[in-house]
Amino acid sequence: MNNKFVIAIDGPAASGKSTTAKQLAIKLKYIYIDTGAMYRASGLCTLLQNISLDDEAALKEMLDKISIRIEYEEDGNKIFLNEEDVTERIREADITKLSSQIAVIGMVRKKMVELQRKIGENGGVIMDGRDIGTVVFPNADFKFFMIADVKTRALRRWEETKEKGESITLEEIEEELIWRDKNDTTREISPLRQADDAIPVDTSKMSINEQVQFIYNKIK
Ligand code: DC
Repeated sequence: MNNKFVIAIDGPAASGKSTTAKQLAIKLKYIYIDTGAMYRASGLCTLLQNISLDDEAALKEMLDKISIRIEYEEDGNKIFLNEEDVTERIREADITKLSSQIAVIGMVRKKMVELQRKIGENGGVIMDGRDIGTVVFPNADFKFFMIADVKTRALRRWEETKEKGESITLEEIEEELIWRDKNDTTREISPLRQADDAIPVDTSKMSINEQVQFIYNKIK
């Protein structure tokens, strides 16, 4: 595809955004940006630097100096925090929770949005997150809002954790998703919500191929 569109994909955790976005990026020869990974890296940074989320001065200093670099690979993004590869570390449970907690803070969001707009300014990008169609790129060429019922999402995550050899129960995953949905949708700044002009995609009963094809057809 020649056009350098900006494609926004938002939705709750485990709704199929990143798997779909990754495959779509390959098909369209676009760059894929996982913005959740950027909040995860910021959360990890507070942990490594021993910064409390309510210490505004320390957070500001951290954000002034932070470097979050993304390398684009076909099987996903590699994330570097201050030049250290944190791709695996940011997927661990403590960082998952911390990323949702740090994402309520205005100055953190401001910094992440700034970085995201810079990456996407020339188009040819598929960005997934919670506020891409509402805040980061309100004029995106295409906006999709992916949803799936919580049981389906929990099962998907559980299967991923089993593949990685992690021992976490399905119930624990479901509880974590419910907690995160609530935190992400009820925060004051840029809560997770469907943009008025976004196309909803309920992936509960769709295969990954169907999700990719559905979005691809809309763009075509
Ligand atoms: O997509 P993810 O599950 O890796 O995102 C981790 C957290 O980051 C998520 O719970 C909320 C936050 N986030 C956000 O607030 N805005 C985004 N654009 C992306 C993620």
